[in-house]
Amino acid sequence: MKRTLTKNLNKCVGEQVSVSGWISVRRDQGKLVFFDIRDGSGWVQGVVLPGSEAMATGKKIRPEFVVKIKGSVNKRPEKNVQKDKQNGEIELEIKEIEILNEAETPPFDLAEDTSSVDEVVRLKYRYLDLRTSRLQENIRMRDKIISFFREYMHAAGFVEIETPILMKGTPEGSREYAVPSRLEKGKAYVLPQSPQQFKQLCMVAGFEKYFQVARCFRDEDTRGDRQPEFTQLDYEMAFVKQEDVLQFTEEMFTKLVETLYPKKKITAKPFPKITYSEVIKKHGNDKPDLREDKSNPDELAFAWITDFPMFEKDKEGKITTTHHPFCSVKEEDEEKFMKGEDIFSIRANSYDLVLNGYELSSGSIRIHKSDMQERVFQLLGMSKEEQKRRFGHMLEAFKFGTPPHGGFAPGIDRIVMILQNEPNIREVIAFPKTGEGKDLMMGSPSKLDKEHLKELGINFLK
Ligand code: AMO
Repeated sequence: MKRTLTKNLNKCVGEQVSVSGWISVRRDQGKLVFFDIRDGSGWVQGVVLPGSEAMATGKKIRPEFVVKIKGSVNKRPEKNVQKDKQNGEIELEIKEIEILNEAETPPFDLAEDTSSVDEVVRLKYRYLDLRTSRLQENIRMRDKIISFFREYMHAAGFVEIETPILMKGTPEGSREYAVPSRLEKGKAYVLPQSPQQFKQLCMVAGFEKYFQVARCFRDEDTRGDRQPEFTQLDYEMAFVKQEDVLQFTEEMFTKLVETLYPKKKITAKPFPKITYSEVIKKHGNDKPDLREDKSNPDELAFAWITDFPMFEKDKEGKITTTHHPFCSVKEEDEEKFMKGEDIFSIRANSYDLVLNGYELSSGSIRIHKSDMQERVFQLLGMSKEEQKRRFGHMLEAFKFGTPPHGGFAPGIDRIVMILQNEPNIREVIAFPKTGEGKDLMMGSPSKLDKEHLKELGINFLK
């Protein structure tokens, strides 16, 4: 008999079916035994009736056993109907049970929401936590959101291009993960903080509209909305102005909410636009929560923050870029930029999208001329040699007919977190790391074998 998924059982009333899945809950009432049976598509209640051949096996079964069940689909008596639940109008009368695999008692109850369970235990047994309905829903909605973006991008003429994971250092402000090279001892690749340079080089290469569901890596202190590796919907467009990127993005997010979260309400359309200096004056930070009712998770208050300063001082008082060194400078401030005057008042053509108090994305219209790019590096105190060594490829590429271009990179983890009403991004990532950057399930980071270290030509001091 072919397997029927639990989501299709309501169409099989009166039929004999075969169902495979996990036992979620077992309620032994002596003469009758009830089970909640779960598969990847949902759940159904099953019952073993007195005198059934399945009774002996039914009594042995515990939660999380994997079973194959044969039985008939019956309508529930009126008084037992649960209208708001999946398969609440039917019941599976179990005739045969085959145990495909037994299970030890899980360290926490998988039939309940695990929000209040110790996260250390949840992360160690992540594959079990993922069986719970909340996490199943989060990961499945994440997939729907990513699919939505992919389809939207393709329909708008974007090309998905994979860019390297092993690359040369980028200067986007965060510490980078390094990967020692075996073939060239003493040298290392770094993992991308974002595909920033590659996506700009895709514009030089003439693709005009690039996107990528891109994995990014940053060796920074982890917080609720930060992970050492995370995913961006990264995109870049040629021959665009800031307004084009904003409009495209705004339409895409509006459509995303209408399509996948029709119950949620966007507070203001078009999204309000606030300059950086205004937002700091008014809210004291650059990611204000603009919801009318801040306790309403179904309200989505998007807002644009524009005109970020091009330069700022880092913790050591050194001049650095607020976003990254590839942002172009506002036309009105170009004179100051060229003269190197009043540097911290120079504004970039850069913009953020914020949502309910979180920074969802950053982007900018880029520099596309070599001399302008050199000027930024110069103002950052980089010598000609250093510029050549670190960014020679960009400076050179810009000399070969680079079109004006700009882009954006919404963080997918943060989007899913907010849309799924979760308090942190770990809840919407299948296999996240702890606040200390550890994978408690696999046990990474871990020591490398002596042989491996030798092969890589490295030696740890500790
Ligand atoms: P930025 O560094 O602002 O810009 O990153 C863009 C968006 O990525 C998400 N994000 C993160 N999400 C989870 N964990 C992290 N550690 C983390 N860091 C960033 C945020 C953030 O808004 N290349 C530029 C974009 C561009 O200019 O086009 C960039 O990466 O949602």
